[in-house]
Amino acid sequence: VTVYVPRDSAARSVGADEVAERISAAAAGHPARVVRNGSRGMLWLEPLVEVVTAAGRIAYGPVAPGDVEGLLDAGLLDGAAHPLCLGPTEDIGWLRDQTRVTFARVGVVDPLSAEDHLAHGGLAGLRRALELGPEEVVAEVTESGLRGRGGAGFPAGVKWKTVQEAGEGLKFVCCNADEGDSGTFADRMLMEGDPFTLIEGMTIAARAVGAREGYVYVRSEYPDAVATLRAAIATAREQGWLGRGVLGSDLDFDLFVRVGAGAYICGEETSMLESLEGKRGTVRAKPPIPALEGLFGRPTVVNNVLTLGSVPMILADGAKSFADLGTGRSRGTQVFQLGGNVARGGIVETAFGVTLGELVEGYGGGTRSGRPVRAVQVGGPLGAYLPTSRFGLPMDYEEFAAAGAMVGHGGVVVFDDTVDMAGQARFAMEFCAAESCGKCTPCRIGAVRGTEVIDRIVAGENRTANLVLLNDLCDLMTEGSLCAMGGLTPMPVRSALEHFPGDFGATKEARR
Ligand code: NAI
Ligand code: SF4
Repeated sequence: VTVYVPRDSAARSVGADEVAERISAAAAGHPARVVRNGSRGMLWLEPLVEVVTAAGRIAYGPVAPGDVEGLLDAGLLDGAAHPLCLGPTEDIGWLRDQTRVTFARVGVVDPLSAEDHLAHGGLAGLRRALELGPEEVVAEVTESGLRGRGGAGFPAGVKWKTVQEAGEGLKFVCCNADEGDSGTFADRMLMEGDPFTLIEGMTIAARAVGAREGYVYVRSEYPDAVATLRAAIATAREQGWLGRGVLGSDLDFDLFVRVGAGAYICGEETSMLESLEGKRGTVRAKPPIPALEGLFGRPTVVNNVLTLGSVPMILADGAKSFADLGTGRSRGTQVFQLGGNVARGGIVETAFGVTLGELVEGYGGGTRSGRPVRAVQVGGPLGAYLPTSRFGLPMDYEEFAAAGAMVGHGGVVVFDDTVDMAGQARFAMEFCAAESCGKCTPCRIGAVRGTEVIDRIVAGENRTANLVLLNDLCDLMTEGSLCAMGGLTPMPVRSALEHFPGDFGATKEARR
């Protein structure tokens, strides 16, 4: 009998290691094997234990360490009924209603088993990329409509073409795994749950642009992802999936992990490159874009984990299968992450076009507190706060931009009716003041002044004049900042002012 207990750090944080140990100990003498998989992404059900039966994988959860004995007595190893039994995993509505492309293997495979990777369609994308010429690989990615999943949504194929055409010589592929946005965890879950897919995606990118070396820049807060990636890279080298003559081809490509030191700004691509070069993470002016002058001044592909992690499936299944999903110019699937005060948080991978309401009320099941939803912040700490009246908004880069919001990296954070939106607006400025790299004045000074002005507005001092001042400051930060850190901080502030004006003024006390 094979029993799956996730090794994902979200599952570990709620006792998955102890659950796995207890099952292993209690099952000694039985022909049982405990496999540590990634998480299926249903975080409210972690630790989610799965047992392989003739009828497929049967799920139990959430399983506390103290539940293990009772579960084994009730016949866990036979997939027996139990109050914690959720039935066949694939039939759980929350999972069944998703379209898993980038996350197709996460939670299914043993993340460090090369055999499992191959048994679940791994390397099909890379093999096809090696058969195709670099130009055809770029064309395939362009036709798929894949856009940068880190947040900006720049077409991946156009970026790759720029690097490909940037002449001969040394080039790099860098994966941005600094995932600093609040409420986002998809990069981490892919690295912990299916690292070979990321390795494969980076190798395909190397093939496309002619790079020989790649780096994954992982935030220091992700020690499990770092360890898993390093182990997977070592295995990939042993298997001949990395190194000289990848899979017997003429491609030489090797990959290294670098760990950040805890600065949000190192998720900005040029700061990340500075940090990779061993310098302090400050933003570089663009142009030149990294595609032309990136790591050590050489042409460099910089893509997010989810962008590179989508590429193997695109190559394996063809651009059309990906492009057929989605809406408008937002093609394929997005790995949305539900968090905050939400009943059913976790990973929802589905085609673009799903509405915000479907994500929050449908998949998410409303708030965890049971109180009404009041605001949802989409796209990280610099994303807009949206009220429930905007629940009909489809998840689509252009639709969100038109609504003064952004899809960003797909983080969706839910707040109930106890949230103080003036406090949230202040937090955006405070966050910017703390995380600013300090290179430009609108951000470095503007964010500090922003918290002060919001404090004065909330205290009722010259409210009208201070609201005008805050608006001017937001204009200045948006237009005058060197990078998106200062440039986007006004977005949560403005959305809070627009949708929840009462929280900033006289009616605030009345609402309470
Ligand atoms: P950007 O729009 O300046 O650039 C997007 C990408 O396209 C960059 O890689 C840039 O180098 C590339 N690019 C632009 N023009 C190009 C050309 N002609 N040829 C080739 N490549 C070209 O946006 P930026 O500053 O890189 O990212 C801002 C976004 O980052 C925000 O919208 C936000 O959603 C997101 N973000 C994500 C975070 C996370 O944790 N994932 C954290 C903070 C922000
Ligand atoms: Fe640095 Fe802020 Fe200017 Fe970006 S906007 S370059 S983080 S000071």
